[in-house]
Amino acid sequence: MDGNGRWARQRYMPRFFGHKQGVDTLVRTVNAFAERGVEFLTVYAFSSENWKRPTEEVSGLMSLVLVAVTKYLQKLANDGVRIRIVGDRDAVSDKLRAAWEQAETLTANNRRITLSVAFNYGGRWDMVQACRRAIAEGVPAEQVDEAYLSSRMALAYAPDPDLFIRTGGEMRVSNFLLWQAAYSEFFFTDRLWPDFGEADIDAALAAFAQRDRRFGGIRPNEVVPEGT
Ligand code: FPP
Repeated sequence: MDGNGRWARQRYMPRFFGHKQGVDTLVRTVNAFAERGVEFLTVYAFSSENWKRPTEEVSGLMSLVLVAVTKYLQKLANDGVRIRIVGDRDAVSDKLRAAWEQAETLTANNRRITLSVAFNYGGRWDMVQACRRAIAEGVPAEQVDEAYLSSRMALAYAPDPDLFIRTGGEMRVSNFLLWQAAYSEFFFTDRLWPDFGEADIDAALAAFAQRDRRFGGIRPNEVVPEGT
């Protein structure tokens, strides 16, 4: 969800104003994705590296989450959204942890769309925590394979993403879903996150529909029958 800061600057407003608008865009977007049949949506709200931002912006983002939960949780719950939070919760305040738990508990039985909010999350953090769990469980090294590690990742309950969208014009992954995006299709758009809307979703889904996914194999029409 990149571009909140620039969106605010274009309006001579503080960065926080962009993040606030970003939350509204997220609430709109979840429904638009659900209407198009998307069952899992994972958003990058705060990365393991975002602590490097000015203290004021970090605390602004933390309080924004609390406000967002108060303002939108009931609506998201009524819309059939299941909310899950992925990331390291140890470093966030008790208040924020309690808000996450409230959001997860209230929406646990919803299945229209699962919204995973990556918060204090990093793809590398996820791999490290999965390895630590393997060690804590005392699993022999030869049993630690891709399926095992996948099952210990923070997003083990969700399928790997088919489509990876980044707004705001940057063309990098920035430590998001490093393990899970191994075969995702990428869609980059210059649109700043607060302006992201239905037309952008449709453009992303149309681009996705044109992709030829081979998962490391070859095109089906190139398969040579055995014995020839
Ligand atoms: C990137 O834009 C955006 C973020 C680091 C924060 C995104 C967070 C939200 C939209 C709020 C999430 C809240 C909930 C409840 C899930 P940027 O600041 O890097 O923008 P810039 O590249 O234009 O500076």
